[in-house]
Parts: sequence; structure tokens; C-alpha cells
Amino acid sequence: MSILVCGGAGYIGSHINKLLAQKGYDTIVYDNLIYGHREAVKWGKFVEADLCDRAALDRVFSENKIDAVFHFAAFAYVGESVTEPAKYYFNNVCNTLNLLEAMRAHGCDKIIFSSTCATYGIPEKLPITEDMPQNPINPYGATKLMVERIFKDYNTAYGLKYVALRYFNAAGADPDCEIGENHNPETHIIPLVLDAAYGKRPDIKVFGSDYPTRDGTCIRDYIHVTDLADAHLLALEYLNKDGESGFFNLGNENGTSVLEVIDSVKRVTGKDFKVTLAPHRPGDPPTLVGSSKRAQEILGWKPKFADIDTITKHAAE
Ligand SMILES: NC(=O)c1ccc[n+]([C@@H]2O[C@H](COP(=O)([O-])OP(=O)(O)OC[C@H]3O[C@@H](n4cnc5c(N)ncnc54)[C@H](O)[C@@H]3O)[C@@H](O)[C@H]2O)c1
Repeated sequence: MSILVCGGAGYIGSHINKLLAQKGYDTIVYDNLIYGHREAVKWGKFVEADLCDRAALDRVFSENKIDAVFHFAAFAYVGESVTEPAKYYFNNVCNTLNLLEAMRAHGCDKIIFSSTCATYGIPEKLPITEDMPQNPINPYGATKLMVERIFKDYNTAYGLKYVALRYFNAAGADPDCEIGENHNPETHIIPLVLDAAYGKRPDIKVFGSDYPTRDGTCIRDYIHVTDLADAHLLALEYLNKDGESGFFNLGNENGTSVLEVIDSVKRVTGKDFKVTLAPHRPGDPPTLVGSSKRAQEILGWKPKFADIDTITKHAAE
């Protein structure tokens, strides 16, 4: 079975590409390398191309019998999406439409998509469940919600089968250390704290320490990238067994505060480093924690690496 992995040279996509290859799937990674890394594509074929390039997409679908698409390719810098929304709507929405149209033209009807907890905006209740209102507070979240809506309409009109996985905070790295997280610029907390631990930055800034949480810092739901990979494979198997298209949260439900992440990095690396308290950033909700009950019950998913020290340890390694 052949799988097209769009954005498979990036952090999460490269981990799913590895798992697919391990399970005997033929993969074709399609990535323009704008943020991805050629050296992260260690399995399957590689096509360097942009999703805006319909001719390149047509070539890939004509040259390979593609059974399903895994779609990770997007821009994902929340702050930049506020200052440069056009860039986000073009890449995350228009280019996804381009991909869907190529799939339709070539008779490929299954897609697994990287959605996000950012589609919920500021939740009314915790943990967040899939049926709660989706009111994204930035263009990034809005682009992902638009794609979710496009899937529903393509499902009704053209029979597209989809699973959109709403990740919480992807973290950790391949336990075998073959691939890892390497965003540039990096905005994710665990690699930033690790940089502070290894002296690559002078300190780690904590944005807000008077939130209504147990230690005053923001609480987030960290989910190991290998657990995300497992969920993607289960989603594919689910669609292959005619499972109903839909949306699933992927998180651990056990929130970790910023100070708890920092303590964990200090424990696993044995390093001490400077922590600087800084003002709140606008639009950061105090707590974001998701319920993954639906993914557990329907897809049969069970995270293996829920413990924060395991996540920071794998990231460090
Ligand atoms: N990292 C997280 O915590 C997180 C959380 C929720 C959702 N997501 C979503 O998961 C997906 C993967 O995230 P990531 O952290 O691995 O990001 P990443 O930037 O490491 O990977 C995205 C990949 O897509 C490629 N890409 C982007 N636009 C492209 C285009 N037009 N054509 C071809 N390739 C293109 C990039 O080069 C990169 O390799 C994204 O869609 C992101 O929105 C990530």
C-alpha cells in the first residue's frame, strides 16, 4: 500500500513516515523543505515540491498508485499568522484544496490530516472534547478549522474519507534517536528549555506566572510524537475498515505547567539554568487540556509515553 506523506520532512511527519515504513507501507514524502529537513526523510521515496504546484502533484499521483494521503504540510507559527494571515490562508487552505483536487482527479479518497487544539480557541470547559464549540482566536487556528469544514463538504459531495486529528502539544522525539524535533525558528517550549539547559540560550522565559493555575504558569497537554504516529496509523486502518470520517483529539489529558516542564528538563539533563519571569503573552489561555476518549474508544489508541520526564528525556536525547 502506498502512502503520500505531505510535509513528511518535518517534525511530526518524519516520525509517521518512519512508523509507516516499519509497518511495511511504501511511502512517498512530498515536501518543499521550506521548514523540513532532507536528512529527516530516511524512509521511502522523496519528492521535493510545493503543494501549490498542481503539475507536480499530478505527476506523483500518476507515477504511484497512492492509496491514502497523510497531510502535515502547513505553516504553524501562531504569531506570524496574525501578522501575515495571507501567507497562512494560501498555504494551509488553498494548497490543501489543491491537494484535495489532485486526489479527486486521481481517484484517491482517503486523507489523515493534522488539525489542532487551536481550532477551539479559549475553551468553556476542561478537558476539551470534540463536540465543544470551535472559535479559533488566531488565523492559524482558523485555517485548520476551514480545512475541517472543507473535508465535511468533500465527504458529502465527493465521498472523501477523512480523519482530522486535533493534536495538543506535540513533543518528544523518536526513542531510537533516528529523527527528532528541529524547527527553525523554534517556538516550542521543550526544545527551548533544552537549549537553556545546554547553554545555547542564556535563559528560559516564562510568559506569565500569575495565571489561575496550580503554580501560576500556563498548563498545556504534551503528547509524545511517537504516540501521535501510532494514532495516525490507527486512523488509516480505521478508514480502511470503512470507519466513519471524523475528528479526534490527541492529548494526554494530564496537563503540565511551564514550571513543571522546566523542572522535568532539569531532572533529566541534570543541568541547572536561569529562568526569567516575563509578562503574559496576549491570547494565551491559562489551561488547555484535551480529552482523547473518542480516539481511545473508536480508534483503539492508547498513549505509551504520557509521563513528562519520558517526553523531555527523548527530546533531550
Ligand atoms: N507541532 C505541534 O505541536 C503541532 C500541534 C498541532 C498541530 N500541528 C500541525 O501538525 C503539522 C506538522 O507540524 P510540525 O511541527 O511537524 O511542522 P513542521 O514545520 O516541522 O512540518 C511541516 C512540513 O511541511 C512542509 N511544508 C509546508 N508547506 C508546504 C508546501 N506548501 N508544500 C510542501 N511542503 C510544505 C515543511 O517544509 C515542513 O517539512 C502542521 O500541519 C501543524 O499545523 C502541529
